[in-house]
Formats: sequence, C-alpha cells, structure tokens
Amino acid sequence: MTTAQLLNTQFGIAGQLKFREDASGLIVAEISNPQATASLCLQGAQLMAWHPRSQTVPVVWLSRDAKLTAGKSVRGGVPVCWPWFGAHISEPGFPAHGFARAAPWHVVESSTEPNGATRLTLRLTEDDKTRAQWPHDSRLELTVIVGDTLRMELTTENTGKSDFVITEALHTYFKISDIGAVRVTGLAGCDYWDKVGISTLKKQDGIIQPASETDRVYINTTAECVIDDDKLKRRIHVAKSGSLSTIVWTPWTVKADKMGDLGQPDGWREMLCIESANAIDNAVNVAAGAKHTLIVEYRTESL
Ligand code: BG6
Repeated sequence: MTTAQLLNTQFGIAGQLKFREDASGLIVAEISNPQATASLCLQGAQLMAWHPRSQTVPVVWLSRDAKLTAGKSVRGGVPVCWPWFGAHISEPGFPAHGFARAAPWHVVESSTEPNGATRLTLRLTEDDKTRAQWPHDSRLELTVIVGDTLRMELTTENTGKSDFVITEALHTYFKISDIGAVRVTGLAGCDYWDKVGISTLKKQDGIIQPASETDRVYINTTAECVIDDDKLKRRIHVAKSGSLSTIVWTPWTVKADKMGDLGQPDGWREMLCIESANAIDNAVNVAAGAKHTLIVEYRTESL
C-alpha cells in the first residue's frame, strides 16, 4: 500500500477528507465538505487553500508559482513558523522562521465536527535534523477545523524537565483584490517594530493602508484585525488567542521581484499577510510539563 492509501484507510473520511500523493512525492490532505474546501500539505502542516463555499474567491492565497518541493515551504497558505519567528537569535545558518514549516509532520487524528466542519490534527515528526536545531523535549501539534470559518490551534507542549522559550507565528497569506484597495483595522494605537530598514519601534496611527513595503511586528496586542476589501465586497476577520503579536507584511515590488516566487509580475498585489504570533517582546516561556496554544479563527463578512 502507498502512504496515501494507508492514510486514507486510517484517517480518510468518505466524501470529506482524502489524502493524495503529489508529483513531488509529498502528501496532501484534500478536504471538501458542505461548508468549504481546503488542502493541506503534510510537510510543514501547511494549509495551502481554504475556500468557504459562501465565497466566490478563496480566502487563503497561494502563489500561482507555488510548487511543492521536499524540504521547502511553499509560497502562500499558512506556513507554521516555529520554534522561532524570523531569523534565529544566535545562529545565522538556521532557517528563517524555524524548521517546522519545512519539516515532515504526521496525522494523529481526523473527525467530523457536529456542525459538519472537518477536523484534522497533525504532529511534527522530530528527527536528528530538528533535534540539532532544537535540543528540547517538546511536542508540537496543529489542529485545523475547516468549515465556513477556519480555526487553527498550534499547541507546544514541553515534555522535558526544564523550561524553554519559543517565538512562533501562523503566517497566513490572505487573498485580496489588490493591495492598493484594502484597509486593515484593529491595530490603532499599538506599538510595532518596523522592520523595513533598521528596526525601529513606532506607534500605529489609525488604520493601515499599505502603500509601500510593509513589514511590521505589532506587539502586546490581542486585538481582532479586519481586512476591508471593497472590490471583493468582503471583510476578513482575524481573531486570535494565546497570541500577543500580529505581523502585517506585504513585500511590494522590489522585494517581490527579488523573492521571485510570488507569481510574476504582480502576484504579490493579490495577497496580504496578517500573522498571528508571539514574537520579539512577546516570546513565550513554556515551563517544564506545561502547554501553550496559539489559536486563530478566520471568517468572512459580506460588504
Ligand atoms: C514575514 C517577515 O513574517 O515573512 C518578513 O516579517 C519576511 O520579513 C516574510 O520577508 C517572508 O519570509 P520568508 O522566509 O517566507 O521569505
């Protein structure tokens, strides 16, 4: 039996959840229920698509140049940044945003919620490579609940005898009509690290209307954020708990050209990242034997 067949036997849900092997050899979970469709690559536990049936356009963005590759996070969807966000604090050779987004994960549970949504839980598979970069006894699990809303729960468990500190993010790429036509509300008055140029601490004045490269880590905020998209006639609500940081990121032209995988020439205009995180000032100490969970919930509202 192939891996996909085995997974289908153990965790498949007739008419709702099935696993397939991509040409790259990576396994993808395809979810289709009366409320939404979604797909998730087991590598990185990376959600690649979420399209509620109430919407004509998907809510989660995936680059049109996205290609599944073993050992590399795909551009778009919801990369899991863990156990550090951004550059590693002392090891420049370690991967940006941690190793979880490109590591193998395995399925531990699947079920149908009473309301018809599909629940899937994955656990990071530790190996010598991950242990070399993260020598702590820990268990990382991601649960996704796919319905008309999308809920994701990222749980870090410290299974060892001493505390450790993590930074983390659910680095969600949202599909928007055009970067020049959206507004983000919810962060007025918050302090943020502006990462464009030399990192500087600033205060948000009013709503956010990106008009150039924007790379900001808002700190000490539990606020719900909303993306207002007049052209798509919808709002995307980003609610969270267990998270004190929110990142707002759009690369704009020059950085997008350098990155090269955002869908040339202007794919970057159709996405905006609102990342629910614990970063910089909001690093989390996970005590020995304790658990910490970061939860996000996304929903749309018609305008
Ligand atoms: C954001 C960072 O979270 O992720 C940006 O704030 C970064 O600085 C972006 O460019 C994308 O990162 P990566 O590693 O996926 O190219």
